[in-house]
Amino acid sequence: MAKPATVFVCSACGTESAKWHGQCPGCGAWNSLAEEARAPARAARSSGGGRAVKPVRLADVRPERHARLSTGIGELDRILGGGVVPGSLVLIGGSPGIGKSTLTSMALGHLQAAGRRTLYVSGEESAAQIRLRAERLPGGALDVPVLAETDLDTVLATLDAERPEVCVVDSVQTLHAADLTGAAGSVGQVREVADRITRLAKARSIAVLLVGHVTKEGALAGPRVLEHLVDCVLQFEGERERTYRTLRALKNRFGSTNDVGVFEMRQGGLVEVADASARFVGEATRAPGSAILAAMEGSRPLLVEVQALVSPSELVPPRRVANGIDRNRLALVLAVLGRHAGLGVGSADVFVNVAGGVRVDEPGADLAVALAVASAQRGAPLGGGEQPIACFGEVGLTGELRSVAHPDRRHAEAAKFGLQSVIAPGEAVATLRQALRAALPAAAPRAA
Ligand code: TYD
Ligand code: MG
Repeated sequence: MAKPATVFVCSACGTESAKWHGQCPGCGAWNSLAEEARAPARAARSSGGGRAVKPVRLADVRPERHARLSTGIGELDRILGGGVVPGSLVLIGGSPGIGKSTLTSMALGHLQAAGRRTLYVSGEESAAQIRLRAERLPGGALDVPVLAETDLDTVLATLDAERPEVCVVDSVQTLHAADLTGAAGSVGQVREVADRITRLAKARSIAVLLVGHVTKEGALAGPRVLEHLVDCVLQFEGERERTYRTLRALKNRFGSTNDVGVFEMRQGGLVEVADASARFVGEATRAPGSAILAAMEGSRPLLVEVQALVSPSELVPPRRVANGIDRNRLALVLAVLGRHAGLGVGSADVFVNVAGGVRVDEPGADLAVALAVASAQRGAPLGGGEQPIACFGEVGLTGELRSVAHPDRRHAEAAKFGLQSVIAPGEAVATLRQALRAALPAAAPRAA
């Protein structure tokens, strides 16, 4: 049977279907199927033409040593596992304006200055625009050869001719394969573009940093499809208006996915923030509603300020706004505070924010959220405002505090930055109620 000329592809999981469905049969997402034109079917290979190959015992396989190319950006090298592996494919995702082009331009600049052959391919901006950015950046950013092009065939031919060691493709959504009729950025196009770049890059040993935009929902467009193709997936997060940005690996074939890098956007590009804890502790207000969380960002301890505001509301239902933490965790913490710690917020609006635009995705943040909300509700600073305190711990549904990973490293980080008193799950503090008593000893109920 001939393949249909069009198929419906799910933008969330890449499942293909001959018919349109309101709900994706693959992942259950609603309204995610979009029509895609199909390339003329390639002649189907018969299964009879293959040649048997002798499998090799694992112990007899020669181990690969990955030489690494340093990007000159310490945090980026660390997240990658020690630098860029030649011939590898790295997908860098992030929302518009976060600094993907800046980061990749800087990396190529440093590589070029170190004598590597580089190429910056952009389908987003003109060469003049790219130059304008490079003028602000340090290192050899202005020496990087650039190709402003959206046609995939031209890009591939140029890559083949130039044979750079490291190349940036900014972005995978702007390139267009002429033999596919879908618009640039559609799932079919993105997959084809990434697939063909991957094949050329592997064949010619070109390391490719592939820039990808994330959708409103925070997923890389055509996510599953690309994640399988590439060796590393890096996620660049933060808010455009804020100065701090975090870079973390969601997948890494050549290193761990446990690390996070912190950057600051300045006039001259992105600057690594090696002492992020010191920054965040220094900037913490210590006012009512502020708590310092000893968080773990992968394997790295990080002190961040969690702020809360509890304010009377006319709205039904009241607002529950969470920035930098999961909204559902906030709802859970508020419910436990009310039910087990005698601290209900009733119909008030509650806003919680992790300062600096950092995102903490771990249950260890619960206690900081609870203490910040309690402190805001009571109008009293934690620890009486004199002794700065740090905290961490998961809040359980029965009001108990549960231990979280790496307590020693969290304690050590707090001590390093002068936070002598740490409230964490333990014998003395086993419940949320006890934690509140320890953190807000003399807080009188808020005056009406
Ligand atoms: P950009 O790297 O273009 O973001 P993306 O490629 O992810 O869309 O830059 C993001 C923002 O950073 C842009 O609004 C301008 C700002 N910026 C600086 O503040 N300092 C700089 O040195 C540069 C190059 C950009
Ligand atoms: Mg860009």
